[in-house]
Amino acid sequence: MKQAVIIGASGGLGGALAHLLLSRGGWQVLGTHHQTEPLWQHALMTWRALDVRVETEIAALMTQVPKIDLLINTTGILTSPHHGPEKSIRHFNAEHMMLSFEINTAPILNLAKHAQAALKASHQPIIVALSARVGSIADNDLGGWYSYRSAKAALNMAVKTLAIEWQRSLPMATLIAYHPGTVRTALSAPFLKSDSAKITLSPEDAAEHCLQLLDTLTPTHTGSFWDWRGQNIPW
Ligand SMILES: NC(=O)c1ccc[n+]([C@@H]2O[C@H](COP(=O)([O-])OP(=O)(O)OC[C@H]3O[C@@H](n4cnc5c(N)ncnc54)[C@H](OP(=O)(O)O)[C@@H]3O)[C@@H](O)[C@H]2O)c1
Repeated sequence: MKQAVIIGASGGLGGALAHLLLSRGGWQVLGTHHQTEPLWQHALMTWRALDVRVETEIAALMTQVPKIDLLINTTGILTSPHHGPEKSIRHFNAEHMMLSFEINTAPILNLAKHAQAALKASHQPIIVALSARVGSIADNDLGGWYSYRSAKAALNMAVKTLAIEWQRSLPMATLIAYHPGTVRTALSAPFLKSDSAKITLSPEDAAEHCLQLLDTLTPTHTGSFWDWRGQNIPW
């Protein structure tokens, strides 16, 4: 039985990934939730409450899993209680940006710090950081969304840097940043038009694309940035 840890399994994409792994068989899943209470159960699913902003909570969680074969961090925010993605510099608010960094950027590093021992116990661990294409500096033709773009760009740098360290200390690990496509979830809902179904993905389809890519990856792919079509995104 392989062990997956899905941070943010209460979310659209995290929940779909957990369901898909369990339906594939051979996996037990530890999933976390924060403000959303888990709505479903499964014999091989364990739920834990976690605020990814609190390092001691991450450390405590990781003591409960001796081996991790797949670690997916799906936590992220685009909006905060009083602020959304900025259309113009006039809308910029530093507190919103800091919160965005706290939830979109820092968690992967705290997770990596405290999951290292459990990842080492796996033969070929895979670690996925849910990023976003808008975090690519090379791909930024539209502008806007200062806080989210910056937080995901910083996440991408964290992934690249960690992958370099782990090539020495965890050489069998594959660590990637991943863009899931535009997926119909609570995060994207306020920004989707009513006729956007044709150009967006259901969480179930997005999870399928993600796991299909993971099936093809090897440690030679560590430190790279992928999209849901299985193509590399320039940093
Ligand atoms: N949806 C898209 O179109 C899209 C596109 C590109 C990239 N992404 C990225 O994909 C990832 C998943 O997004 P999604 O669409 O599935 O979003 P979502 O449905 O809103 O899920 C977000 C998840 O993050 C968790 N979370 C938020 N703050 C947290 C905190 N402080 N501590 C712990 N967990 C926290 C939420 O937990 P609770 O609900 O329990 O609070 C939820 O499980 C994100 O990183 C997002 O940036 C999404």
